[in-house]
Amino acid sequence: MEKQHRKTKGIKFIAYLYTLTMISLLCGGATFYGPQSTFQTHGPMAEMQLWVFWWTVGLSAALLLVVGGMLMYAIFKFKADPDDKSLGKEFHGGTTLEIGLIVVSSLLLLVIIVPNYVGLSYMDKIPADLGKPLKVKAIGHQWWWEFQIPELGINTANELHVPINRPIDVEVTSADVIHSFWIPKLAGKVDAMPGQKNKMWFLANAPGRYYGQCAELCGNSHAHMRFLAFAHTPENFNKWVESHKKEAAAPKDAMALKGKAVFNTGCNACHTTDGTSMSAMRGPNLANFGSRETLGAGMYENNDHRLAAWIRDPQAAKESSLMTLGEFNIDLNEQEITALVAYLNSLKSDFLESKEYKDLEKTFEKAEGTHLK
Ligand code: CUA
Repeated sequence: MEKQHRKTKGIKFIAYLYTLTMISLLCGGATFYGPQSTFQTHGPMAEMQLWVFWWTVGLSAALLLVVGGMLMYAIFKFKADPDDKSLGKEFHGGTTLEIGLIVVSSLLLLVIIVPNYVGLSYMDKIPADLGKPLKVKAIGHQWWWEFQIPELGINTANELHVPINRPIDVEVTSADVIHSFWIPKLAGKVDAMPGQKNKMWFLANAPGRYYGQCAELCGNSHAHMRFLAFAHTPENFNKWVESHKKEAAAPKDAMALKGKAVFNTGCNACHTTDGTSMSAMRGPNLANFGSRETLGAGMYENNDHRLAAWIRDPQAAKESSLMTLGEFNIDLNEQEITALVAYLNSLKSDFLESKEYKDLEKTFEKAEGTHLK
């Protein structure tokens, strides 16, 4: 009777623990799918990293089950009355047992170390059979990303474009504090350190739009230092390169033309609209800005209303934004803001605006729960 009671108590305890874990996971919104899920891999680097993850988690879970199971068994099986003298004597020491445990633990560590080492070596050197890598520089700024493709003479910000099925050799660095470059579906994080060039590579195996994020606390707007990575077929990538490098046509409507004049009397101290300019700028390169999906480093949907709000008061739109108009004695009236919005929207990429691309974009994996404001 007593034994039966203990058994029921044990089962109840386990059921309670299980329910609690499941509720915590559900409340935490835990899911294998989402815009930044490391479980939806799109290339060999992400696949390898996920494999190492499952291997390590799987082994740890198996160990937990075995050790925890034995502990639970011992607790319930040998839970004795303190007066019960029938149990054997406790013992101390046991050389064979201790050596045995050390050997088993070391072997288990090896089982984790080897795949991790293989993974690290894979990250270290791009396999030659993947083809000629494309070099990209990712530079973290408070709070946006600069992307350069030196061999193509391209500079852009917050929206990285790469070809599929070609290794992307990324040099990660920072212009100010420590940031971390991360595109969860393509590859793990690499720190962006000022004065240091860190290396990482990835390969996107399907056209699409992938969400990136700074993964190192870097100041007030760390959470709003996102970016998008677009992977195109090689032909489409070439079209993107061509349209990004093309000098923007003079605005057609009067408002945009006025905006251009306003831009050139202040904004151009920190921003350029020339996608081929490699000179260091304080603010993001705005080439083809009108075709970008987001503004404020992936924070907002790029629309007239948001852009106007951004220009009107950058610090209200993004905490501690370093876009300080007062510093340059820029005081814009509403008409000038409207003109600037018209001008920036007139900067379009032929490729990103083409019907062909718009149709293709519809086939991209839908990112559930988009994080845009
Ligand atoms: Cu940059 Cu966090």
